[in-house]
Amino acid sequence: MARIYINETRKVSHINPEIYGQFSEHLGRCIYEGLYVGEDSDIPNVNGMRSDVVEALKEIRVPVLRWPGGCFADEYHWKDGIGPKEQRKKMINTHWGGVVEDNSFGTHEYFELCRQLGCKTYINGNVGSGTVQEMSEWVEYMTFNGLSPMASLRAANGHEKPWKVDIFGVGNESWGCGGNMRPTYYGDLYRRYQTYVRNYDADAPIQKVACGPNVNDYEWTEKVLDTCFNPSPCHLHGFMDYLSLHYYTTPGPWEHKGSATEFTVEEWYNTLHKALYMEELVEKHGAIMDRYDPEKKIGLAVDEWGTWFDVEPGTNPGFLYQQNTMRDALVAAVTLNIFNKHSDRVKLACIAQMVNVLQSMILTDKERMLLTPTYHIFHMYRSHQDAELIESRIEGVETEGGAMYEVPTLQESVSVDQDGVLTLTVANLSLENSYPVEVSLEKLKPTSVEASILTDEKDAFNSFDEPDRVAERAFDGVAVTEQGLKFTIPACAVVSLRIR
Ligand code: AHR
Repeated sequence: MARIYINETRKVSHINPEIYGQFSEHLGRCIYEGLYVGEDSDIPNVNGMRSDVVEALKEIRVPVLRWPGGCFADEYHWKDGIGPKEQRKKMINTHWGGVVEDNSFGTHEYFELCRQLGCKTYINGNVGSGTVQEMSEWVEYMTFNGLSPMASLRAANGHEKPWKVDIFGVGNESWGCGGNMRPTYYGDLYRRYQTYVRNYDADAPIQKVACGPNVNDYEWTEKVLDTCFNPSPCHLHGFMDYLSLHYYTTPGPWEHKGSATEFTVEEWYNTLHKALYMEELVEKHGAIMDRYDPEKKIGLAVDEWGTWFDVEPGTNPGFLYQQNTMRDALVAAVTLNIFNKHSDRVKLACIAQMVNVLQSMILTDKERMLLTPTYHIFHMYRSHQDAELIESRIEGVETEGGAMYEVPTLQESVSVDQDGVLTLTVANLSLENSYPVEVSLEKLKPTSVEASILTDEKDAFNSFDEPDRVAERAFDGVAVTEQGLKFTIPACAVVSLRIR
C-alpha cells in the first residue's frame, strides 16, 4: 500500500503553461507533411496547415512552439523564407537528411501556425552562421510597428501589422552544432547579439534565451552565467530571461541507442532510470543558477527533451522518425511530474518534437494521422498548465529495476487550478506490480473525482492500422473515503485525477 499525502493548503510554485511547450524543426517530416502541406494539397488544410493535426494539437493546449530548430536554426537565413513562394531559394538541408528545403514554410507560415494553435511564439535565432545584422533585421521584420526597411518589407509581403515574438533564443547548442564554441566565447557573443534583439513594443518585451548546457556540463552553466548574468538597473534579469538545457533519454550509446518498439524489461528500467536523471540535472544546474540569481528571476528552459531511439527501420536516418510506446508515455509522465515539482526554476520546456520526429505527439502517413501515447499524457496533464503546484509526497513506494537501473515504482505531482480543482497525476513505472494507493488531503473533503488512465503492455503503440490501441480511457476505480481517496493503479500505467 502506498500513501500520497497532499497538503492542498500549501501552494509551492506556479506551473508556467510553457513547461508543456513543443518544438518543431525543419527536420524530416515534422514541418513538411506533418504540419504544413501547402494550400494546394488534397489533405484538408487552412492556409496550408493540415487541419487534422492542428485540431488534435489544440486539444492538448499547446502553450508555446519553438521554431525553426535545433541545429537547423544556426544554418537558417530567414530572408530565404519570405516573399512569393516560387521565388524562395531552394537548398539542401545539410543537417537533416540531405533533402531539398524549398523554404515554403517561413516566418509568415510559422506565425500563421501559431495563430491557429493559439500558442505563444518562440523563435530561435542564428548565431552559428548568421550575423548580428541578420538577427537584428529579423526581429525588426517581425515586430517593428512603424516606418522601417524591414517593416516595409513585411508589409510588401502581405503582413502590415507586426507579430508578437514572445521568446527569442540567441543560438542553439552553441557548444555543438551551433558553432562548437567555448562557454566564455559564447557568453560574449550572447551579450553582443542579444543587444540587437530590440524590444520595439515596450508593452510586449521579448524574453531572451541564452544557450545553456548539454546534459551535465555544469562548467558551461557556470561560465555562461558568469559572463552574461549581470543584473543592473537597466538589465534587471542580467541579459537573459532563460538559460536553456538539453537532455535526451537514450537507453543505449549514441551509435546504437536501441529500438523504439523492441526492448527488454532491462531496457525499460534503463530508459526510465535515465529519464529520472532529469531531476538531478534540474537540481544541479538550478543550484548554480541560485548562486547568481537567488531570486529566481530567470528560468531554466529545458527546450529539448524526450526519448531518442534508433530510427524506424527503412526510414531516412536523417529524419529521426521513431514509433512511440507506453515506455515513451512513462518517460513523458515522469518528466512532466519533475518539471511540475521544480516549477520554481523550470519555466519553459519543449519536448522534441511535435510531429513525426523523435518523441512526437502525432505521427502522419500522407493523409493519415495517429495520436501517440505521449500525446495522451500531454492531454491527461493539461490541467497542470497555469495551476499552482501544491505540496505532496508518497510513502511506501518500492523500487524496481535492480541496482543498475533502480527506479521508484510510483511518482506523482499535484496542482490546484484557479477554480480550486486539484489535479493529481501518478505514474506506475513497475512492469509487474499494481499498487493500492490511499490519498489523504489536509482539509479538503472531496465530493467528486473525474479520472482517466493510460495503460497497456510495455511496448504497445498505435499504428496506422490500429490507431487507438493505446488511448486515454475513463478510470472508474477511484473511491472517496473518510481521509480522501483510494484506488489501485495497474502496472505500467499513468492516472490523472481531477478532484473537487
Ligand atoms: O532535436 C534534434 C536535434 O537535437 C536538434 O536539432 C539539436 O538541437 C539537438 O542536438
